[in-house]
Amino acid sequence: MKFEDFLYTQEGADLFEKTEGLDKVLSSGVMTGSEGLGIRLSEKTSPEVKIKEKSGCEHKVIMLGSNSYLNLTTNKKVCEAAIRAIEKFGYGMGAVSVYAGITDMHKELEKRIANFYNTEDAVLFPSGYGTNIGVISALCSSGDIIINDSANHASIFDSSKLSGADLRVYPHNDIRALERILQKLKNTNAAKLIITDGVFSMYGDVAQLDKICDLAEFYGAKVMVDDAHGLGIVGSSGRGTAQIYGVENRIHLNVGMLSKTAGAVGGYCATSRKIAQYLRHYARSYFFSTALPAPIVAGLNEIFKLLEHDRAGRKELWANINYIKDKLNKAGFNTGNSQSGIVPIIIGDEPTLFKMHEDLRLSGVYTNVVTYPAVRRKDCRIRLCIMKDLTHAQIDKAVEIITKIGKKYGVI
Ligand SMILES: Cc1ncc(COP(=O)(O)O)c(C=O)c1O
Repeated sequence: MKFEDFLYTQEGADLFEKTEGLDKVLSSGVMTGSEGLGIRLSEKTSPEVKIKEKSGCEHKVIMLGSNSYLNLTTNKKVCEAAIRAIEKFGYGMGAVSVYAGITDMHKELEKRIANFYNTEDAVLFPSGYGTNIGVISALCSSGDIIINDSANHASIFDSSKLSGADLRVYPHNDIRALERILQKLKNTNAAKLIITDGVFSMYGDVAQLDKICDLAEFYGAKVMVDDAHGLGIVGSSGRGTAQIYGVENRIHLNVGMLSKTAGAVGGYCATSRKIAQYLRHYARSYFFSTALPAPIVAGLNEIFKLLEHDRAGRKELWANINYIKDKLNKAGFNTGNSQSGIVPIIIGDEPTLFKMHEDLRLSGVYTNVVTYPAVRRKDCRIRLCIMKDLTHAQIDKAVEIITKIGKKYGVI
């Protein structure tokens, strides 16, 4: 049985019959993870963290599965700012912003994000997923054309469908295929939006934004980048994938998430004043969804103060990324074309993937299991996410375990 077998109702079957089927498969114990596919944490996320197994027993794992790359989730100044804000504003906003409002801190954060990207404005959304849903479905509709990289995040595909626009997809990072699509559309009057992840979440590689911007300008398309995993990590001062290529001012919609490097929750779109104003009125996941809680926003303002001056530890993180990649490659693992805090280990065989992932966790290394629908089954992989605060001793230990288990399953 496969994940997608439970998505659709068989003809003549009861609507909820699919839930019985999935339940049977899950209770047979085929899935790994101490909590579904993930884990249950017994303490705050840090490079070495205590987790709880299904049996209730607890043990420590080296954490290679969190996108809190710069360990800002536990940063003292950030947490203190959040505590001060909870005392002043409480822990939630009470209703959508059009009814219950936002604070000066929300406006300060939007301004900081706009300054960070050198755009006129930025709009804060209560979730990263909802940012893509809101931005794309507000700006695109039937008659428009959205062109997606095949490895874009699920939220981009979901909102592309929701928008009603005509959807075209090019193979991952294949610029010539993108150009072929644009060439074929040359004679249409339809408005076109090219959307790409900046750093690809399941590959760790980056979009070729210089070439994408060149094509967009030549063929009259607009460009949107979801740089969820690029913020604070890539680019000469951590301003993301566009900074790698020096094309910051050629991106029309700079989307990012506050759930990865920034360690919290939420997302944003940095853009022109008029587009931001439009989004505040027509992005339904903004208009109809409650704003981020004030304590989160207070913490995020502290985080952007660090990111603005590139003082959040990006260089230490890169030392760790290079250290672990070098060790894994020397051990014989295929880590793809990673250029970020995401380091995949390509497995390519799903049963091996699940067994290896489980074995790793029980041996003290927590990683992410990545298969369909996040990638094609034959591209399934273990995903490692690297943190700045990992010590060399922890990385050495993790690589030793990964190597032992990789050999056991014939991956190396
Ligand atoms: C590229 C990308 N976009 C969007 C999202 C959604 O962000 P969030 O988890 O904050 O909703 C994610 C995270 O899973 C992501 O990796």
